[in-house]
Amino acid sequence: MNYRPLGRTGWSVSEISFGAWAIGGSWGHVSEQDALGTLHQAVDAGVNFIDTADVYGDGRSERLVAQLRKARKEEIVVATKAGRRLPRQTVEGYSRENLTAWIEDSLRNLSTDALDLLQLHCPPTEVYDRPEVFAMLDDFVKAGKIRYYGVSVQKVDEALNAIAFPNVQTVQIIFNCFRQRPADIFFAAAKERQVGILARVPLASGLLTGKLRADSMFAADDHRNFNRHGESFDVGETFSGVDYKVGLEAVEEVRRLLPERVSMSQFALRWILMFDAVSCAIPGGKRPGQVAENCSASDLPPLSPETMAQIGHIYDQKIRPLVHHRW
Ligand SMILES: NC(=O)c1ccc[n+]([C@@H]2O[C@H](COP(=O)([O-])OP(=O)(O)OC[C@H]3O[C@@H](n4cnc5c(N)ncnc54)[C@H](OP(=O)(O)O)[C@@H]3O)[C@@H](O)[C@H]2O)c1
Repeated sequence: MNYRPLGRTGWSVSEISFGAWAIGGSWGHVSEQDALGTLHQAVDAGVNFIDTADVYGDGRSERLVAQLRKARKEEIVVATKAGRRLPRQTVEGYSRENLTAWIEDSLRNLSTDALDLLQLHCPPTEVYDRPEVFAMLDDFVKAGKIRYYGVSVQKVDEALNAIAFPNVQTVQIIFNCFRQRPADIFFAAAKERQVGILARVPLASGLLTGKLRADSMFAADDHRNFNRHGESFDVGETFSGVDYKVGLEAVEEVRRLLPERVSMSQFALRWILMFDAVSCAIPGGKRPGQVAENCSASDLPPLSPETMAQIGHIYDQKIRPLVHHRW
C-alpha cells in the first residue's frame, strides 16, 4: 500500500482507503461478521483511513468502525459526516444546535472524544454562501470536538466554493472513469490550496467491477434498486448517475483495455490513482475478498498514456454527453 498526504492535516493516508457506507446500510443485508471481517481485512492490507457517516445504518457503520479501532493497535483515521439527519435539506438546518447534536452522536458511536475529520454531508449549495456555518465548524475545532473538517459535495462548483473557506481541509467528490469532470476544473485549484481529495463511488457502485449484467438483481433495500432513478437521493450517487444500460456497454469497452492478470476493479482504481491531486480513493466493500482485491490496485504499475487516452475516448463517446454537465 502506498500513502499520500491528506491536504494540510499532516496525515499520510492509504491511497486506497475504505468507504463504510455498504457495511452500514442501503446496500442489502451485510452481517456483522462480514462487516467486521471486511474492516479487519482493510487494515491488514494497509488501509489507515475510513470514511463513514452518522446516517449509514443509523450509526451502525460508525459503531462497527469503533469496534475495529478498539480491536486494532494501528492508527486509523476516521472521517465521518453530518447533515443528512435533516428531514429536509435547508441552510437553516445547519444550525449550531443541530451540528452539536450530530457531533455528539458521532462521538458516542465512534467511542471517542474528538472526531478526526467531520465532513458536511452534501449540504445544500447555499451553505457555501454562509460563512457563519464554517465559523461554527471552526468553533468545534477550538472546542476540541473535531480535529479537522471538510465537505462532501455533489457538484464541482460546490467543491470550488468550499475551498474558498481557508479551514476546509478535504473535499469528497465522486470521481471515477465515468465521472471525470473534477479533474478538468477542480483538481488544480485543490492542489494549489493543498486541500485533500477523497474520491468516492470509485467503482460507480459496482458497475466498474465489471461483474454486473443487464439482469443483475439487487435487494429491495439496496439503493441500486430503490434509487436507480434518484427516487430517494441524488441519482448521481447510484451508478455515478450513469444510465445502467449505457454503463454496461461502456464497461465492456473498458474491459478490452485490461492488462493481463488485472481485474476491472483494480484497473478502475488504478485509473483514479493516476491523478496526484487525489489523496485517496474510498471504495466500499461488503466482503474481505473485495477489499483485498481493491487494495492491491495500489501495487499496480501506472497506466500508459495510450490507455489513459483510450479511457478518455470511451468517456467522451459514451458517458460525457449524459453526465459531464450535471455534476
Ligand atoms: N454523499 C456522500 O458523501 C457519499 C455518497 C456515496 C458514497 N460515499 C462514500 O464513498 C464510499 C464509496 O462509494 P460507494 O460505496 O457508494 O460505491 P463504490 O465504492 O463505487 O462501490 C462499492 C460496492 O461495489 C461492490 N464491490 C466493491 N469492491 C468490489 C470488488 N472488488 N469486486 C466486486 N464488487 C465489489 C460492493 O457491493 P456489492 O458486492 O453489493 O456489489 C461495494 O459495496 C462509500 O462507502 C461512502 O463512504 C459518500
